[in-house]
Amino acid sequence: MMLKDQAALVTGAGAGIGQATARLLAENGAAVMVADWNEDAAKATAAAIVKAGGKAQPLKCDVSRPSEARHAADQTVRAFGRIDILINNAGITRDSSALKMTPEQWEQVLGVNLSGVFYCSQAAAAHMRERGYGRIVSASSVSAFGNFGQANYSATKAALVGLTRTLAIEWGRYGITVNAIAPGFIKTSMTDAIPQEQREAAARRIPMGRVGEPYDIARLYLFLAAPESSFITGALIVADGGQTLLH
Ligand code: NAI
Repeated sequence: MMLKDQAALVTGAGAGIGQATARLLAENGAAVMVADWNEDAAKATAAAIVKAGGKAQPLKCDVSRPSEARHAADQTVRAFGRIDILINNAGITRDSSALKMTPEQWEQVLGVNLSGVFYCSQAAAAHMRERGYGRIVSASSVSAFGNFGQANYSATKAALVGLTRTLAIEWGRYGITVNAIAPGFIKTSMTDAIPQEQREAAARRIPMGRVGEPYDIARLYLFLAAPESSFITGALIVADGGQTLLH
């Protein structure tokens, strides 16, 4: 049990990659606070973990609100006595070509994907510093390198790299590592919105010959969340089946 007696806060854990990650961390011994702004989804993930013999609690939380982010970190400590791991996984898309993008589309995506990561990280690190240990991992994306129709999303995922590196510099002295991952095309509700033929075309362009599954990414989160990855910080690790090698 890699994470025996540890406690994790996973945001956006009601679906997709976050759900797979919450389950995998729990299978590896962590107590998991399953945070999502969709309360029913959070409850379903937490119930599935408990049914499988793990430890989890659901929490309704909108990471873009500073008070709710703070509450999520505090609640993890209240429920499980500690917070060792923060997985900043919650993210949204509001796609549009740049000339047509509304201020609402721009601000919503910045609020969740960028500000949400900062608020949750700050709230969790305040507790982690006290115990001199922490693992923070955030979801960037290969869209950080640019993607048509995603000026807002791409900007946030690129900004996370600077944020991650800066937090890694500031918080290394507290025993906290801060890393980001850049998934490629992963099959979740986020990508289910893309038409079937476009998805098949995308898969053909991936050297590994397939799109990713949520567990492909959950396993990377687990690796970076484990005590053993103590010498990796400020890194961006790409997990895209080789997709970006061909760009
Ligand atoms: P998803 O849409 O399947 O699940 C995201 C979850 O986050 C949902 O349960 C949603 O309710 C929750 N959520 C959204 N906004 C929230 C907020 N403000 N507060 C709390 N919870 C919130 O998404 P998916 O595909 O699992 O993506 C997870 C992360 O991975 C996101 O950050 C996404 O940008 C990133 N990513 C996904 C890729 C993909 O191909 N699916 C590729 C690269 C990165």
